[in-house]
Amino acid sequence: MHSTQFCSPNLSSYIHKQLAVVHNTERCIGLQIKMNSAQVQVVTANGHPENVVTKQLERKGTARNVEWEGRGEIFEYVGAANPAMSPIPVMGLRAVEHETGPTRVITLDASKELEIEGYQASSPNLLASFLRICVGDSLTTSACATSQAFYVIHGRGRTSVEDQELEWKTGDLFVIPGGKEDTSCTHECFQDEKTGGAGLYWVSDSPLLAYLGVVPKGKKFDATFFSQEKLLESVDTVRHEPGAEHRNRLGILLGNVATPQTKTLTHTLWSLLNVLPAGSDIQRPHRHNSVALDLAIYASPDSYTLMGRELDGQGNVLNPVRVDWESGAMFVTPPGWWHSHHNDSGEDAWVLPLQDAGLYTHQRTLDIRFSEQEIQLLDQKIVR
Ligand SMILES: [Fe+2]
Repeated sequence: MHSTQFCSPNLSSYIHKQLAVVHNTERCIGLQIKMNSAQVQVVTANGHPENVVTKQLERKGTARNVEWEGRGEIFEYVGAANPAMSPIPVMGLRAVEHETGPTRVITLDASKELEIEGYQASSPNLLASFLRICVGDSLTTSACATSQAFYVIHGRGRTSVEDQELEWKTGDLFVIPGGKEDTSCTHECFQDEKTGGAGLYWVSDSPLLAYLGVVPKGKKFDATFFSQEKLLESVDTVRHEPGAEHRNRLGILLGNVATPQTKTLTHTLWSLLNVLPAGSDIQRPHRHNSVALDLAIYASPDSYTLMGRELDGQGNVLNPVRVDWESGAMFVTPPGWWHSHHNDSGEDAWVLPLQDAGLYTHQRTLDIRFSEQEIQLLDQKIVR
């Protein structure tokens, strides 16, 4: 117990004594210690009245000591080390959001489900939105973020940020750094033949900064652009490499010259352009600690993802949630969940996940695992 970091010597000594008392009671299944400026209570988790002890403290130190001490809380380790957190929901946005209606931002906001107050979030670290920009219109977006990624789902146009301009078209992707409290981008749509307006997929790490209560101090990378031609050519190259058919995923990771060690899109964001070839049937399950905000770029019916917390003995996702892909729609794959991609249609299916895996890779906590390896380890009676 590290109470001496938070408590006065008198209080620390008192808590140690009371822990010893309550640990010795047979009914005790856990402890919660509540402090306020006047007293300390040691409360068993079953809340039994006879196990509740209260003592008025002998106060020493300044009024500031009392004030600061009143904000501290101390919990018994086993009962509190794995607190019940609101689960990250499997939610999504339909393509109709960026294919119809007026110029606007459509955000996937799960802050209510995540019990987050004061800012929008699709996951604890990331915020995903669609932009709908009608032909001839412009739309200004603003974010307090270190990284913003934009993928052009359809349309042709231009984005201006500070004194720089970039022209884009369907299938292009670009990332914009944040270097101050708010980074504003103005997007204009020149052309979109099918829906009368451009559709962009926008992901930023603004929730991470809001959680930390910080603003960017400076740019961590320079604006970076990937053209559709270069992306497709690169996928085609890896697709025709020897042994490509045996890989768990067939796709390309998008890197940045500013992130040579993590090999990620930015220092926080990560992205993969992944194709499920027609007739490939399945990409076997894997899992990772980063969240995936998946954009289904193109999918025919019978392309889908199965996701769940556990695998069965054959390495398939146990009691899975099925998310059917829809061209231009996005969905959330929660961190830590096993997920397999399936293509039972007769056409190639394409998916573009954006993740916070840049951050996890830097922290050495991405922990990506593949079901085949996990089953092999279990066969060897190795559990990790
Ligand atoms: Fe994944």
